[in-house]
Amino acid sequence: MRILVVGGGGREHALAWKLAQSPRVSEVMSAPGNPGMSQLGRCFPISANDIDGLEALVLTERPHLVVVGPEGPLAAGIADRLRERDTPVFGPSARAAKLEASKGFAKALMARAGVPTAAYGSFTEPSPAKAFLDRMQPPYVLKADGLASGKGVVICETRQEAEAEIDLMLSGRFGAASSSLVIEEFMTGEEASFFALCDGESAVPFAGAQDHKRVGAGDTGPNTGGMGAYSPAPILDESMQARVMTEVVSPTLAAMRAEGRTYRGVLFVGLMINEQGPRVVEFNCRFGDPETQTIMMRLKEDPLPQLLACAAGGLHGCKRLERFVDPAVTVVVAAKGYPASPVEGGVIDGLDAAGAVKGVQIFHAGTAIRGGRLVAAGGRVLNVSATASSLEKAVARAYEAVDRIRWEDGFCRRDIGWRALSRG
Ligand code: AMP
Ligand code: GLY
Repeated sequence: MRILVVGGGGREHALAWKLAQSPRVSEVMSAPGNPGMSQLGRCFPISANDIDGLEALVLTERPHLVVVGPEGPLAAGIADRLRERDTPVFGPSARAAKLEASKGFAKALMARAGVPTAAYGSFTEPSPAKAFLDRMQPPYVLKADGLASGKGVVICETRQEAEAEIDLMLSGRFGAASSSLVIEEFMTGEEASFFALCDGESAVPFAGAQDHKRVGAGDTGPNTGGMGAYSPAPILDESMQARVMTEVVSPTLAAMRAEGRTYRGVLFVGLMINEQGPRVVEFNCRFGDPETQTIMMRLKEDPLPQLLACAAGGLHGCKRLERFVDPAVTVVVAAKGYPASPVEGGVIDGLDAAGAVKGVQIFHAGTAIRGGRLVAAGGRVLNVSATASSLEKAVARAYEAVDRIRWEDGFCRRDIGWRALSRG
């Protein structure tokens, strides 16, 4: 079987790496891929957002399955387009991807389906948005309705800041993505990422993980795409996963189906969990990055049958992937200046030595080959993933590998895993 992975980040490298190990897979191609993915199969220089280019590629290469990593092409209809070409696609239609692509849509659907989440209002005009703040307590949570590369959420401590942010957002701070905004109750608790696989008929739990969204140690500084992750997440134990399936995933999928938005692919539920139970922070229509790197490290089985079943049906008959063994962690190595303005072009050495640490895999993200050297070409550049018999040991292995990487402009958080480790 030949597989095409769409995307070129750490998430896609990890998916390609895992799929390449399947006895049924002869090649994992990617578009655009990255230098790490080029070790696994051919990379085609087609952007993940170039739907026409990807369609043309699929018509020439005829992959048996296309796995779409990022949300952009899903929201733009890549899955619809390729399904019209009779190609099995892992990922939802544009109508179903709206669950991530419009926060207002997701909130309204959750309200209709009785899914636990923060109270909210949705606005396109500043005055009613500001008046709504009367009904909220600080801190105020403001969210651009559309896709904003993980930057569209602003948490304001004061009313004054919130009013200023409402004006900024509605006058185009995030372009069309913030022509509408959601104002939401601030939730407290512990955040976790939960992934369920869905084939349009049924859904099965896949795995849980915890991300580190802030750029700085101790969860400080601006939000990023994610600076590190670990799995399993102690808070998402079996009984909590079962609750999330019953209280969130099932009613959401049923409501989507009833509206003609049948959901296929992975449903990523961002959760806030406290004594009252789990509540939804957001839905994503794709795997998490860097959560996926961590989950693929732990998975001892071939995920291909499940991914194929999500694309073509029959998930119910597949047995649940249960052979997740040791814990795993991923440390993101980013370019200085990330997330605002990462420094590009620095030469990276030492990856062979880093990858030689026991239990470690390096997944590429923003890397490129220039003049025969590996250089930084993005914000999040490398993912150092490690597995071991305990999370503590996995973390030690990951940092041992990080310390073997020679790249002047790189930095990482040194406290990945702190929340789970501090539980003892
Ligand atoms: P999102 O892009 O919706 O995941 O939001 C980014 C981050 O903002 C989340 O991971 C949370 O840390 C935080 N956040 C979003 N919504 C809320 C909320 N209602 N209450 C508290 N924190 C939130
Ligand atoms: N790590 C969070 C995300 O993928 O959105």
